[in-house]
Amino acid sequence: MTVFSLAYTLHVLAALVWVGGMFFAWMILRPAAMAALDGPPRLKLWLNVFQRFFVWVWVAVLILPISGVGLLQLRFNGFETAPRYVQVMMGLYVVMTALFIRIQALKLPELRAAVAAEDWPAGAAALGQIRRLVGVNLLVGLVVVAVASARPMF
Ligand code: HEM
Repeated sequence: MTVFSLAYTLHVLAALVWVGGMFFAWMILRPAAMAALDGPPRLKLWLNVFQRFFVWVWVAVLILPISGVGLLQLRFNGFETAPRYVQVMMGLYVVMTALFIRIQALKLPELRAAVAAEDWPAGAAALGQIRRLVGVNLLVGLVVVAVASARPMF
């Protein structure tokens, strides 16, 4: 395996884990939890899910730019000569990471505090905000993957 193919594999796997995890959470787990659980156990479930999933999101947040910049150097000899779709990818990476840090640093502590205090209305409000932010990030992530895959168009 060459350095290039190793970087490429890690890059795509990191994108898969992050975007695929958000897809599963939004499209499958969210409606299933709504159908199967009442408010308090649902909030506890989501707190547990986020705490576990976000460890892997941090891994993706680190691997994507490290492997991406490696690919950039190996394939395009640096930032200036990189094609438009790679620049779009980098810009949207910043958007995705900013939204993720907003959830991790602000919204998740709110959810955790509400669950600890058994303040279910506050927990539901925090979960609603996280749901919207994850929904936006999922859309941005899908756009990045589409842009990366349809690169001859960009
Ligand atoms: C600093 C951030 C990033 C940099 C510097 C970067 C850079 C790159 C580079 C140079 C390539 C190879 C392009 C080529 O061979 O033509 C690539 C491919 C790819 N990137 Fe990124 N990327 C970044 C973030 C992301 C993010 C956030 C995602 C998705 C969530 C992503 C998904 C992909 C995918 C799926 C490919 C493979 C495309 C294909 O072969 O069809 N990248 N990236």
